[in-house]
Amino acid sequence: LIDGQSPPWYPSPRGGTLSTWAESYNKAHRLISRMTLVEKVNITTGTGWAMDLCVGATGEAANVGFPAWCLQDGPLGIRFADHADSFPAGITVGSTWSRELMRKRGEEHGREAKLKGVHVLLGPSMGPLGARNPAGGRNWEGFGSDPVLQAIAAAETIKGIQSQGVQATAKHYLGNEQEHFRKSFEWGLPESLSSNIDDRTLHEVYAWPFAEAVRAGVASVMCSYQMVNNSYACQNSWLLNGVLKDELGFQGYVQSDWLAQRSGVASALAGLDMSMPGDGRFWQDGNSFYGEQLTLAVLNGSVPMDRINDMAKRVIAAWYQVGQDSWESQEPNFSSWTNETVGRLHDAATDSDETGIVNHYVETSTSNSRNIARRVAHEGTVLLKNEESLLPLSYDLGEFNLGRKAKVIVVGEDGGPGKGPNYCEDRACNQGTLASGWGSGATEFPYLIDPFVALHKSFDATGVELARALNNKLSKADKEKIKQQDLCLVFANADAGEGHLAWEGVRADRNDLELQKDGTKLIRDVASLCGGPVIVVIHSVGPVIVEEFADLPNVKAILLANLPGQESGNALADIVFGRVDASGRLAYTMGRSLAEYGETAPVLYYPNHIVPQVDFTEGLYIDYRHFDKYNIEPRYEFGFGLSYTDFEYSNLTVEALKDKSTLPAPRPQGLSAPQYQNTPPDPKSCLYPDGFRKLKKYIYPWIQKTSQVKQGRYPYPQGYDIERRPSEAGGGAGGNPSLFESHVKVSVDIRNIGPRTGKEVVQLYVSFPENMSDPVSGEAIATPMKVLRNFDKIELTAGQTKTVEMFLTRKDLSYWSVIQQNWVMPENDEFTILVGRSSRDIQLRGIY
Ligand code: NOJ
Repeated sequence: LIDGQSPPWYPSPRGGTLSTWAESYNKAHRLISRMTLVEKVNITTGTGWAMDLCVGATGEAANVGFPAWCLQDGPLGIRFADHADSFPAGITVGSTWSRELMRKRGEEHGREAKLKGVHVLLGPSMGPLGARNPAGGRNWEGFGSDPVLQAIAAAETIKGIQSQGVQATAKHYLGNEQEHFRKSFEWGLPESLSSNIDDRTLHEVYAWPFAEAVRAGVASVMCSYQMVNNSYACQNSWLLNGVLKDELGFQGYVQSDWLAQRSGVASALAGLDMSMPGDGRFWQDGNSFYGEQLTLAVLNGSVPMDRINDMAKRVIAAWYQVGQDSWESQEPNFSSWTNETVGRLHDAATDSDETGIVNHYVETSTSNSRNIARRVAHEGTVLLKNEESLLPLSYDLGEFNLGRKAKVIVVGEDGGPGKGPNYCEDRACNQGTLASGWGSGATEFPYLIDPFVALHKSFDATGVELARALNNKLSKADKEKIKQQDLCLVFANADAGEGHLAWEGVRADRNDLELQKDGTKLIRDVASLCGGPVIVVIHSVGPVIVEEFADLPNVKAILLANLPGQESGNALADIVFGRVDASGRLAYTMGRSLAEYGETAPVLYYPNHIVPQVDFTEGLYIDYRHFDKYNIEPRYEFGFGLSYTDFEYSNLTVEALKDKSTLPAPRPQGLSAPQYQNTPPDPKSCLYPDGFRKLKKYIYPWIQKTSQVKQGRYPYPQGYDIERRPSEAGGGAGGNPSLFESHVKVSVDIRNIGPRTGKEVVQLYVSFPENMSDPVSGEAIATPMKVLRNFDKIELTAGQTKTVEMFLTRKDLSYWSVIQQNWVMPENDEFTILVGRSSRDIQLRGIY
């Protein structure tokens, strides 16, 4: 039940309890033993927005040789950087359903970040999940509307990034499902909204991807702007101390989203380890909830020494864990604030005139990374309709049998370059072809291959005459021209982004699920005018309503190219001409209207309370689970996508590797983390060094005078003195290791029965037993009709057969019991194992 309340969970669990991090913690322990209090504060506090070269920077601990860090966005490339790739966005990556590409894109992203001197990449994004509010502004930064798809893509991305020695950040923890009211002052409100999520839904849906991120070894987690159950996410002790650090066993550090921190002592005690970008309530006024304030809080006893030690240790351990101690240079070689070679070293420090070479223009893009970007874009393109096998086209359109040159036109602003890819700040406008959404998740495009250019290059000019009308308002002449065509390709899109920016009437979240810029009308007009078949291409941040054109008789093909990044046109041409199979699958359900997604699907656009309250009453029933529950036939279901070939499924076997049993094994004993002496140092040791020149508005860890330290009795928050029993669901990275043991092996033969080489995404869903009840309370436990639990993507030549093997873990086969506070497997009843081509195209069934 949602009661909108968050229980206290103290004290904050110490890091260093898992063997996989033990060596890094030992090193961190050695370092920290030699560090002063101000040094510890300095490495856990940002220096202030735009005070250094990256979007986030920490201070250093110079005496022990621990460097200042560069933290940089974001999920699809390196924000504000030059000579770096703009990869396809998360939603495109999710639509590939390819573990290989998820990993490879992460590797390339990490490799580039390292070359730029970025310690911490602020991605991947796995919240918003994007399922409950299909119009949510930042859904596209993540990988799709299902916790398992999101989790697998996030985990592969993290492993890819961190394999290159760069720390990844799992963000935004948790419940930041809409942009409206995420951050109170952005919207003129006293407080940010509260996402009210019940315990079971939190575990089974929203925390699932974060659990997998922790299991993948993620170095950092970013807490989100809004409240969860009426407690700010960055000071929510249950979420940070309880779920993340105790239950999921997170060993890295929690950093705040930018100005998401709302208190000093309270957030430190609740588990926030790093303040980002350091600023307190306002940007760039020199005040921080950490910095000097944290030093004072430790000196006066309101934050225990043990806690600041744990904070600093988590930060240092993460640096060792990815091997950053071996970096030759610890300096970023680009500036987020200027493209000039020489620039300000502390951009926002108004009294600083220090300049230096800030941009070294290090080329990090390679033919390999561009190739990965292109592969993700084409494998992330979903073929939704392909009547009479219109696609793929040949280069000369010989199949049209015209006996003359074929006339083809590309129509719509989205098919062309517009005013260039970097025309608006942080990409916050919809113009030209859409290849990314806007906000911190966007990058400066090094280049953007638009569809028209790529199609033009591909068509054989001896057989095809290619025309264009790259605008959405058709002139009379355009209309005449369209009538004469043998084939029309029409482009339309829908854009959205992050809450600090708006485009026309779109204040980050979309207002509806319609194509923008009259795209629907454009498509209808082209369909009614075109002398031949029509191919519709959509670029979008999320689901769009296609009802007004999807069934028009001459709309033969529809491609959803998601947000393809810099290689947009090339990737599209790869699909259109069949250089590769169409192998993308929908990462969300495309309904026939927003209303179909349910009562809670619209974004809350107007505050309903002083603290706006958003109750996640749909619970587990998001996206396809909702459509299943209410028996609604969507336009295109989750997991759907056509291929140029065809596949046959046979020989499903479901092998029980282990018997069912209700509960996981008891929580294993972790390593014990060393405790530190609990007396704060002499306040005199925390004074500014003699002769220190302070920059205005820069955030420092020192105190001005010892009289600032007001000794007193500062009570710890309610619940602090309760002896907490560690969660039985914990004990390993991502949770109790027993949760990740395989219980079932599923294997299935897939045969390519079509004409050509192609790729198939084999999807594994599970139906929990009907009429389940909790073994302790006897209470009925309802579950969605089916839930995705695994998938695999394989390539098969024509006629080839492969056996696909997939596993199901205990966690996959358990529900979260709010009574037992553990994952419970229904022991006595049968699960149905479903294997298919989409969430509605189930080919084979088995029993466990
Ligand atoms: C706010 C965004 O929510 C977050 O995703 C981003 O990493 C930071 N700003 C830094 O730009």
